Amino acid sequence: MKEMILQTKVKVCGVDELSAADRELVEAARKATYSSYAVYSKFNVGAAVRLEGGEVVTGSNQENAAYPSGLCAERTTIFWANSQYPSKPVEALAIAARNEEGELATPISPCGACRQVILETENRYGRPIRIILYGAKECYVVEDGIKALLPLSFGSEFLE
Ligand code: THU
Repeated sequence: MKEMILQTKVKVCGVDELSAADRELVEAARKATYSSYAVYSKFNVGAAVRLEGGEVVTGSNQENAAYPSGLCAERTTIFWANSQYPSKPVEALAIAARNEEGELATPISPCGACRQVILETENRYGRPIRIILYGAKECYVVEDGIKALLPLSFGSEFLE
């Protein structure tokens, strides 16, 4: 039997080592945690996307008493950005999170459903999305797009 080795390249760095553009996006995501509606989990997540042309759009998780009706910060942000600017490709996405004790030291990574939506957005605009995951101690940068975080993914190519 053959084996496939699926590799993921993630850069690890301090926030001060990020480029000015990535830092700006991270700051927007951190700020967006304050617009989160997370009365049930008390876990505030913020996301920010940079669109072609430089526009930055932010969003946060929005919870609901009927738990599955809530939505993660990443999807809130991407859907809002795509609704407002349907012709502008998403170039980069930053994510930050905070709990009742403050910002998390280690980055959180998008859930499976959000990864699938990020993949759809990449396919829609035909370009990978740079992903910057913020942690107070260290950040992770995924430069080549969501496929690194979603190996063997299901995308539109299977429906052609
Ligand atoms: N959440 C996000 O917004 N993004 C993630 O990447 C992980 C989880 C939200 C969903 C829910 O409101 C809370 O965090 C706890 O799961």
